[in-house]
Amino acid sequence: MAATVEVLANKAALVQRAYELVLAQIQTAIDQRGRCTLALAGGSTPKPLYEALAQADLPWDKLYVFWGDERYVPADHPDSNAKMARQAWLNQVAIPTEQIYPVPTDDPDPAAAAAQYEQTLRQVLMEPTAVPSLDIILLGMGDDGHTASLFPHTAALQVCDRIVSVGNKDGQPRITFTVPLINAGRYVLFLAAGANKRPALRQVFAPTADANAYPSRLIQPLNGGAHWLIDQSAAVDVTLPV
Ligand code: 6PG
Repeated sequence: MAATVEVLANKAALVQRAYELVLAQIQTAIDQRGRCTLALAGGSTPKPLYEALAQADLPWDKLYVFWGDERYVPADHPDSNAKMARQAWLNQVAIPTEQIYPVPTDDPDPAAAAAQYEQTLRQVLMEPTAVPSLDIILLGMGDDGHTASLFPHTAALQVCDRIVSVGNKDGQPRITFTVPLINAGRYVLFLAAGANKRPALRQVFAPTADANAYPSRLIQPLNGGAHWLIDQSAAVDVTLPV
């Protein structure tokens, strides 16, 4: 199923739309399964969304929070995706601490950390399937077309026998959901704003392009296409999928 792409007037409108969609999906998950499992994106785009969610009135005890990727830095490092989300949102609301699952980044071996996070995901999601499904997976897209920490022409793009792997950004390790885990997501929402996203979006939405060069192309959720929110600035001269 093709992606759904919405073009919003500006980043503020994109964040507001994302807020509405995420709230609706959280409620759907709780209604259908009694809880909501969601994976957060890092980077800068989602921060105002997290700040808005900090003001929402939700059954916080029904949320289970993961990260779709993490830089391999200490939890208090300025580059930590978990640190950003805690400061913008999670520290302001009553999600039980034991239901927030930051990626472990203190093991000297990133591969061991990836395996540990995979085990945590499987234990919490409690699905017998080879690839479990999270209710909501939030994603950004880098200017180079990467998503999560699935960077162009890296080994992590090919990993299909694990649900968490080690990404590589310019030689720096990252922990990342793999393509199969993202594609098993029940609802996958991309947020991409700004003119700097245009070149990659053109390739990601093109009928054909090299998915290894533009890894966001690999995200084809089995449960219906991904939902993209882009702003006008990012959409200029971009042919959207029909
Ligand atoms: C990360 C993110 C990464 C991010 C994109 C877009 O750890 O940096 O997970 O995949 O979503 O790089 O980042 P911006 O939102 O800052 O453009």
